[in-house]
Amino acid sequence: MLKIAIDGTAASGKGTLAKNLAQKYGFAHLDTGLLYRKVASDLIVKKKDTDNNLEYLSCKYAKEVEFSELKKEYLRSEKIAKLASLIATYPKLRKILNLKQKEFVDINLNKFGGCILDGRDIGTKILPNADFKFFIDASIEIRAKRRLLEKNISFLHENDEKCMLHALIVKMKNRDKLDRSRFEAPLVPAKDAHIIDTSLMSAEDLLLVVTKIIEGRKNIKEKNK
Ligand code: DC
Repeated sequence: MLKIAIDGTAASGKGTLAKNLAQKYGFAHLDTGLLYRKVASDLIVKKKDTDNNLEYLSCKYAKEVEFSELKKEYLRSEKIAKLASLIATYPKLRKILNLKQKEFVDINLNKFGGCILDGRDIGTKILPNADFKFFIDASIEIRAKRRLLEKNISFLHENDEKCMLHALIVKMKNRDKLDRSRFEAPLVPAKDAHIIDTSLMSAEDLLLVVTKIIEGRKNIKEKNK
């Protein structure tokens, strides 16, 4: 049974990699960012996102999160991402969501023969004993371009596109900074993680590279049995 931890920056390709690997091996997959995004979304919907008791309310909503509610489409906005990154600095909230992530692994590991979690602290905190750890990153310009492409907007003027790209770069830089500098479980590669820069790689290339690493080590283990 394999546990695979994938961490990295926003739009680095880690989510697509996790999805592709889960499909390839038939493993269960949890995009852990969606847990933080769901709590952030609930705060916004209930107009509590500027409440003085943000930490208390985040914890309250986190306890109510169901895995079945984690649909990516409506949790995608930059507004939700920004608040998710802010509340992710609360140690009490992280504790609650960490338990949910471990619960996901407990429920699904046997059932599917493997689990893949992607996020920011999977290799360092949630699955420190993972069989494979990957840390995925890419240049900020490339990541912002990927996010812009996902939005599927057709621009009338080149300048509008440049403006939007610039605004995205600023937002993503701020979020990276907060994720990397928070006291509790900051975004850092685990010591034993394979670090991969996807700036010049397609999703297919990345899947090939990672599969090679997994298959290579699996073969060594089987030979030594
Ligand atoms: O992966 P994402 O962009 O959907 O994550 C949104 C935010 O959630 C991210 O900026 C930080 C937080 N997060 C976290 O702190 N730990 C995780 N394991 C996953 C996400």
